[in-house]
Amino acid sequence: MLTVDITGALRFIDAGAFEKKMHLACDAAESLLERRCPGKDMTGWISLPQTDARELETIGDAAKRIQDENDCMVVIGIGGSYLGAKAVIEALPGEASFPVIFAGQNISPEYHDRLIGSLDGKRYALCVISKSGTTTEPAIAFRLLRSMLYEKLGRETAARHIIAITDPKAGALRRMAAENGFTSFTIPPDVGGRFSVLSPVGLVPCAVAGVPIAGMMEAAGLAMDEYSSPDGGNEALRYALLRNMLQNKGTRIEVLSTFHPELAMFCEWWKQLAGESEGKSGKGLFPASTVMTTDLHSLGQYLQEGPRDILETFLVAASPRTDITIPSDEADLDNLNYIAGKTLSKVNRMAFEGTISAHSSGDLPVIRIEIPSVAPGAVGSLIVFFEIAVAVSAILMGVNPFDQPGVEEYKTRMFKLLGKPGKR
Ligand code: PA5
Repeated sequence: MLTVDITGALRFIDAGAFEKKMHLACDAAESLLERRCPGKDMTGWISLPQTDARELETIGDAAKRIQDENDCMVVIGIGGSYLGAKAVIEALPGEASFPVIFAGQNISPEYHDRLIGSLDGKRYALCVISKSGTTTEPAIAFRLLRSMLYEKLGRETAARHIIAITDPKAGALRRMAAENGFTSFTIPPDVGGRFSVLSPVGLVPCAVAGVPIAGMMEAAGLAMDEYSSPDGGNEALRYALLRNMLQNKGTRIEVLSTFHPELAMFCEWWKQLAGESEGKSGKGLFPASTVMTTDLHSLGQYLQEGPRDILETFLVAASPRTDITIPSDEADLDNLNYIAGKTLSKVNRMAFEGTISAHSSGDLPVIRIEIPSVAPGAVGSLIVFFEIAVAVSAILMGVNPFDQPGVEEYKTRMFKLLGKPGKR
């Protein structure tokens, strides 16, 4: 499903040493599969593609009811509790036709004012997602939107329009769901937020939006078999080891560059996956992203001639899902007739080929990851590819891929400033 070409980066390290070290990446994959790696209690995501058909059907039934009874759904969550769903939904605009709006990722009054205004006169459902059930940003958004829904429909009817996705037992949200009779789904206790997109956390919003989740999961299952296998030809492991060796030689940043704006949110999902998994103990590549050709006119200069501590990983699709031909123009005042009759996808492809070649000639290590097209199966495969690669990469670095102790620091200070009981 994916083609991965690392030759444009391999030339920056000792290729012989790379092959010799591949056993380390294989060992890391083995330790992940055998659940004995750092953070071994949070490796449940490896089994998520095996989610049985009955569970997918239950999710499909709940999604159908939401679609039938509402004009839109607001998904409330932050970090791993929204990025994956938003990434998949935005990647697949052809499939995802039911309006899904996202909230709970900021505390901006302007944002919430606009959101509340946009819901005026609409029948809406809420899907609140929080593993801990206590995260401040989604808790605030849920309180605001829930009270509006209660006021509009009354508590009992409103409950029919609320889905809660949380821990099976612990946390405030689980208690609220039980007490109020919300439809609920569980986040497996051994799956952390940023590895949860193939659990109900991602699947419920995606199914409501209209994404064919069964097809995506089937491809994810095949990808899991391929990319978790501890063998030297495994592309996910080769990519993980390569970024690790580049880091040891001074690379500080990895930029994921795509030529498909519909993958912009996918890059955001990847940034959290990589950043929260690896950025510990003074280690980790800083994950950044660009959407081309837009960013060629802003960050292209830096990528071409700025400091050479960047790895650029290109994420491209071989074929478009739809295409448009550039028309000819008799006057040709814009001098574009030389590409008249060509498709936008062809021009976009040439922009990609030109860019990767230019950046490579500017001494930037480049990797190319190619999918056949931005379709549900390819998105499922990409998710698994990056999950395995990032987990293995973190294990190679000697950090626990599945915790995020640093995230607590801002919370502690914010709670103190807000006077949260017990936090003075
Ligand atoms: O990856 C993670 O674990 C985090 O980004 C969490 O998903 C995020 O902090 C939200 O947490 P919760 O789902 O508990 O509200």
